[in-house]
Amino acid sequence: MYTWEELEQFVNNCRACPLCHTRKHPVMGRGDHKGKLMLVAEAPGSQEDLAGIPFVGPSGKVLDELLAAAGIRREEIYITNILKCHPPGNRDPLDREKEACIPYLKYETYLLKPQAIVCLGRVAAQRLINPDYRITRQHGTWIERKGCFLTATYHPSALLRDPSRLEEAKRDFQAIGEKLRHLERAKK
Ligand code: URA
Repeated sequence: MYTWEELEQFVNNCRACPLCHTRKHPVMGRGDHKGKLMLVAEAPGSQEDLAGIPFVGPSGKVLDELLAAAGIRREEIYITNILKCHPPGNRDPLDREKEACIPYLKYETYLLKPQAIVCLGRVAAQRLINPDYRITRQHGTWIERKGCFLTATYHPSALLRDPSRLEEAKRDFQAIGEKLRHLERAKK
């Protein structure tokens, strides 16, 4: 059993795939290690690669807007990615990169034990919920797996490219906020 600090050391020293040669910084997940909600996106963007912190670039601003719509503060949740290293040119992660990196996400999930996981975008939804997941058709629907609820919504970068989806994504986040409050009440 490893601690959060040990896990971060493994990520920082990772050489499991060729992205270790092009990354500036590995990007370990960030947030409340006791958070009930885990957000999982695709891979760090170029600004995250420079900073070593998830969602610090323009998509981070969109994410903050979505969280605000749900009444959720960044400090109370945990945010991470399928890949911990930036794929050059922001290309889609390759299967071998995802498979090399997924043990870190599994361990983050094991340590955090979230009540709910929200996949941001297709790559996370297809890896964590269903390989055929279609965000436009299925976003906002929930499944339960081993007592943890999973859903998906649009990736903040997709919303930057197509802001007409922003209201839908905000509604998904409002429902996510409701779900967390409901789960909290059910525990009492
Ligand atoms: N896009 C992602 O998928 N993850 C980040 O951390 C930032 C942008």
